[in-house]
Amino acid sequence: MGNLGADRNGNGSRNADGHDGGPPVVVRDVTKNFGSQEVLKGVSFQVEGGETLAVLGRSGTGKSVLLKLMIGLNKPDSGSLEIHGQDITRLERRELDEARKKMGFLFQQGALYDSLTVEQNVMFPLGRHTRMTESEQKKRARELLQTVGMEKDGDKMPSQISGGMQKRVGLARALALDPDILLFDEPTSGLDPITAEEIGRLIDDLKQQRHIASVVVTHDIHQARVFADRLLLLNEGRIVAEGSFDDLASSEDEFVKRFMKQGRDQKGLGRRDPVRRTNRRPLCRNRFRNGRRAWRD
Ligand SMILES: Nc1ncnc2c1ncn2[C@@H]1O[C@H](COP(=O)(O)OP(=O)(O)OP(=O)(O)O)[C@@H](O)[C@H]1O
Ligand SMILES: [Mg+2]
Repeated sequence: MGNLGADRNGNGSRNADGHDGGPPVVVRDVTKNFGSQEVLKGVSFQVEGGETLAVLGRSGTGKSVLLKLMIGLNKPDSGSLEIHGQDITRLERRELDEARKKMGFLFQQGALYDSLTVEQNVMFPLGRHTRMTESEQKKRARELLQTVGMEKDGDKMPSQISGGMQKRVGLARALALDPDILLFDEPTSGLDPITAEEIGRLIDDLKQQRHIASVVVTHDIHQARVFADRLLLLNEGRIVAEGSFDDLASSEDEFVKRFMKQGRDQKGLGRRDPVRRTNRRPLCRNRFRNGRRAWRD
């Protein structure tokens, strides 16, 4: 296992799937309304250990709402969301806290603590949920910051770093407790294409190294093609397409065609594999040294 895994520190053991069997994430027939607005109208899917699911859809279609339901920040009106076999909608406060320790999440807005430094932000979940000493927390935080190329910025405040850097710090913090489920809300939006691609590859590497089940909300079809095993397209509260990139790209459904065309027009997705054809030197597996990613050379 690479350096992306944390010390367990009494967090208990688990098998490669992170639990006793079955998919780590099972969402069944979830509906969610806000007042008279029906946002989700019966959404069902599951995610296996080691699988990355990309959730796509137009703005305002309920993608962030879906992630918030998955971490128990909001409750659905009906349906269930099972995380490692436990319906998150039925958990008491303490059980919910326990379940969340196995989940890393990166909010759409980064959501760093303004009054803490970058390093303290990453240390925060370690201080709260593990028995690590402060120096162990610092060491771990530095490793995580190195993972996302932010090791030189640990002493800065969130207001002193760019939006993309905040996203990377949020990602480091999401990884702090060595989760086996990761939920990302737009991890690459607002980033330059090279950083976006590197984040995409980092997600892919995590999947390979850690057997993490990831749900990644994104508008970026191009990125989704790189890191996702399966894509799910939401429209008007329902899943309108699900499958591989090629499945969606060959759909006859008018909405799916329009959505996929958008990505093709923006990123040249008509070509066989645009990512591998980039002139930029690819971020290769061999840039892991001793299991640690070197963001920059
Ligand atoms: N707490 C809330 N109260 C009322 N309405 C809400 C709440 N949260 C979300 N909504 C509504 O639910 C709908 C879906 O919102 P959501 O944030 O999930 O969209 P999204 O698909 O993530 O869009 P984007 O791609 O722009 O991030 C929106 O119409 C939003 O206004
Ligand atoms: Mg959103």
